[in-house]
Amino acid sequence: MDKGQNYEVKDIKLAEQGKLNIELAESRMAALLKIKERFSKEKPFRGITIGMALHVTKETAVLVRTLVAGGAKVAITGCNPLSTQDDVAAALAKEGVSVYAYKGETREDYYRYINAIIANSPEITIDDGCDLVSEIHAKHPQLISKIIGGCEETTTGIIRLKAMEKDNALKYPVIAVNDNKTKHLLDNYYGTGQSSIDGILRATSILIAGKNFVICGYGSCGKGLSQRAKGMGANVIVTEVDPFRALQATLDGFRVMPIKEAAKIGEIIVTVTGNKNVIDSEHIKLMKDGVILANSGHFDAEINVKYLETEGKKRKMRPFLDEYTINGKKIYLCGEGRLVNLAAAEGHPSEVMSTSFCGQALACEYLVRNRGKMGKTVITLPESIDDIIAKLQLDAMGIQYDSLTMEQKKYLESWQEGT
Ligand SMILES: NC(=O)c1ccc[n+]([C@@H]2O[C@H](COP(=O)([O-])OP(=O)(O)OC[C@H]3O[C@@H](n4cnc5c(N)ncnc54)[C@H](O)[C@@H]3O)[C@@H](O)[C@H]2O)c1
Repeated sequence: MDKGQNYEVKDIKLAEQGKLNIELAESRMAALLKIKERFSKEKPFRGITIGMALHVTKETAVLVRTLVAGGAKVAITGCNPLSTQDDVAAALAKEGVSVYAYKGETREDYYRYINAIIANSPEITIDDGCDLVSEIHAKHPQLISKIIGGCEETTTGIIRLKAMEKDNALKYPVIAVNDNKTKHLLDNYYGTGQSSIDGILRATSILIAGKNFVICGYGSCGKGLSQRAKGMGANVIVTEVDPFRALQATLDGFRVMPIKEAAKIGEIIVTVTGNKNVIDSEHIKLMKDGVILANSGHFDAEINVKYLETEGKKRKMRPFLDEYTINGKKIYLCGEGRLVNLAAAEGHPSEVMSTSFCGQALACEYLVRNRGKMGKTVITLPESIDDIIAKLQLDAMGIQYDSLTMEQKKYLESWQEGT
């Protein structure tokens, strides 16, 4: 590990490669760069420290640069032990950002780094999974009075924050960036769809066409993944616990069945539920020899990895692919059951993260502009901000669209005109 005054990274000599990767990401993140350009003139974060626990990727580096351009001091760590891009962490450290992260962190280092971020006394927190917020609430409550607010990136984090809010345990406002329409559409749906397949392919190099591809969970992520898997010729099977979502999957043309049935025929099985033990020992016992398991939900709790570890004879076949032999049957697990798209691949494409991070950047600005006026609740950004993000992304793609005529606007707002 390389350590400096403001960093702890795998190898600081990787900085040059990291800089090139960030440059590549920037070239595909024009929407976020527009915001950066404005921030560098207006300096909305002058004198403000922003603490982040986000996947340390080339795209996150572009967000960091955007906030720094806006006058912020930024301290960043990862939000998943396997998702850090070591070259990017090194490049950020070289740029003077406080960065504590490496790919393959121990649990101990993971929490030590979260606490290194907290030691910077952040006034804004940005989380992906709520670990920073919960660590501050549990162990550093004395910092809360100075915190303007937080931003949360993912569904699982929002679930945890809403549980805190319900228990009156949430002590500062947090914006649910995950709930932006633009975030859900590009990130959860298109991003997770493409990048989960990217991760599975990089880990296994398997042919997807013709395979029974089971997707557990038909939320935004599961829907996106189903479409991509179908597009590659897989026989997609969905498992769900929500009747509406199960109905939706059926009408979208997928076979829906209980996990106990799907486990027997699945050749690739992916969880994207945000729940735990969705694939449990009883299901693993039913599986076919050679089955591939992967998870794209936030935590590594969706597949019972403990069962595989205790009952299986383990061989590391290649990076991010472990083989477990149980009763003569081989079960393959991608990325240790952690987010496969970030563990085995590079996360979402830059274009996707551009819109997600436009949401983060504008949410931080919203927190500063509304300082002291927000309740200690989970906040959804006004739709007008979502519309700005959609417009920025359309501009970046060079796409023009129509607007309502005065006559149409009046018509849509009135009730008198009928048949
Ligand atoms: N891999 C990524 O990059 C990425 C990106 C965005 C979100 N996420 C994570 O993916 C997960 C899903 O996110 P989402 O936005 O699709 O959530 P969502 O709440 O829209 O969908 C989750 C679905 O899973 C279903 N479900 C819950 N328990 C189940 C079970 N035991 N069996 C079958 N289905 C079950 C729910 O009914 C729901 O329809 C979350 O953990 C989120 O944080 C990951």
